Amino acid sequence: MTDIIDKNIQNILANIPAEEPARQYYFIEKCRDLVKEEQKRLGRPLSCCVVTFGCQMNAKDSEKLTGILREIGYQPQEGEEADLVIYNTCTVRDNANQRVYGRLGYLHALKKKNPRMRIGLCGCMMQEPSVIEKIRKSYRFVDLIFGTHNIFRLAELLYRCMAGNDMVIDIWEGTEEIVEDLPALRKFPFKSGVNIMYGCNNFCSYCIVPYVRGRERSRNPEEILEEIRRLAADGVVEVMLLGQNVNSYGKTLEYPITFAQLLREVEKIDGIQRIRFMTSHPKDLSDELIQVMKESEKICRHLHLPLQSGSSRILKLMNRKYDKEQYLALAGKIQREIPEISLTTDIIVGFPGETEEDFLETMDVVQKVQYDSAFTFIYSKRTGTPAASMENQVPENVVKERFDRLLKEVQSIAASRCGRDCGTVQTALVEGVDEKQEGMVTGRLSNNLMVHFQGSSDLIGTIVPVRLTEAKGFYYMGEMTVSDGQASPERPGQDQI
Ligand code: 5AD
Ligand code: SF4
Repeated sequence: MTDIIDKNIQNILANIPAEEPARQYYFIEKCRDLVKEEQKRLGRPLSCCVVTFGCQMNAKDSEKLTGILREIGYQPQEGEEADLVIYNTCTVRDNANQRVYGRLGYLHALKKKNPRMRIGLCGCMMQEPSVIEKIRKSYRFVDLIFGTHNIFRLAELLYRCMAGNDMVIDIWEGTEEIVEDLPALRKFPFKSGVNIMYGCNNFCSYCIVPYVRGRERSRNPEEILEEIRRLAADGVVEVMLLGQNVNSYGKTLEYPITFAQLLREVEKIDGIQRIRFMTSHPKDLSDELIQVMKESEKICRHLHLPLQSGSSRILKLMNRKYDKEQYLALAGKIQREIPEISLTTDIIVGFPGETEEDFLETMDVVQKVQYDSAFTFIYSKRTGTPAASMENQVPENVVKERFDRLLKEVQSIAASRCGRDCGTVQTALVEGVDEKQEGMVTGRLSNNLMVHFQGSSDLIGTIVPVRLTEAKGFYYMGEMTVSDGQASPERPGQDQI
């Protein structure tokens, strides 16, 4: 690696702090000087754009990347006609990879118009050696590549990139290190994701995540709580606790603590009015968690509980460690204990060897549980996972036909579920103005559905009571009500309604 480090950098090596995050703050300063010089030369500010592919974890990482870039002196923007563009990639299904390759063609065209433009790639897809090989060979215009374990190093890598001319590539196979406390730029001032753990140890046989995100590591509870306290002080009213499998949070800590215990602590933080979390694995979902949710005033009435398949035979092949009956019993228990809960799920169609009977088992669970919504996926073969080498891959036309049937069922159940709360008054966190209808705003209900109602932009970030007047299939129309003793919408910091 040293051979690609420019002489300039070698001269300053002696002064570089060894500890993180001090090291990155050092490189942020160094980059800032280079950005200033370039701005002077061009006579205009430099812009940057971070594009997120994939899940909430990636969205959170993108906020960290954007925060560092802003600190360096770039002006963040939405469009990709920028001086620095970073694609934060996903590789969970092959179509995610194809989208990135497709959009790289577009970036190449932009770079031809602005040769000073820099292009960076990071995230899950970059942890695959075959991807790096392909980019090295066929996408020479890319300037910077890094992976999932070292995103905190953006400033250092960007400095290397700006000071030299070669493609900078830095991919780590894994890490024990968790570096936080770097700048982040939140997309929404009033809500934020909070990482509570990284990686996954489950090795579901179809899934590439454990290979690209590494082993499970939990953050220290005190650090998490401190971050949430800071967010609350900064006007955040809703937090989403993030992890690939939040139900196994804390098991590997020096002083183990359960996810339910962590939730109890988050609940105590003043200013935080709503708590969400993502994602739960059914095998680890405890009675203690159900109890904490039931008693909580702040934990939202929404649980995402990935099913993947309703066939016990396929679940075994998937290495999910629960069967159809156990899943149904768990979903039933949750619905009994918390009747207003909204259950959502992920389902894969066409796993190797899936027969019509197996598929009908999935349909059966969907009908029994009555999900409020479900993400349905066509099985995608991921090289390196055990399922990729399984025989009996299901023919494309069969999968497509099953997928369509499942989607229809899921949508029709979701539409009927959506109507169930019509006429009730619920609290909604106003997230933005309705782009399509003037004078309207959009709010998110505790159960994660959206509601549109009359209001203006000064409501954004507040939690208000809304009467749900009409169900529209997967969202509601409503009208803001004024509850007893509540003359104005709630502001961050006030008590919950
Ligand atoms: N093919 C299709 N869907 C997949 N998922 C994960 N891996 C694959 C794959 N190889 C889905 C699972 C998971 C969601 C995030 O993505 O349903 O819960
Ligand atoms: Fe993938 Fe399974 Fe881990 Fe989820 S729990 S990230 S599906 S291996």
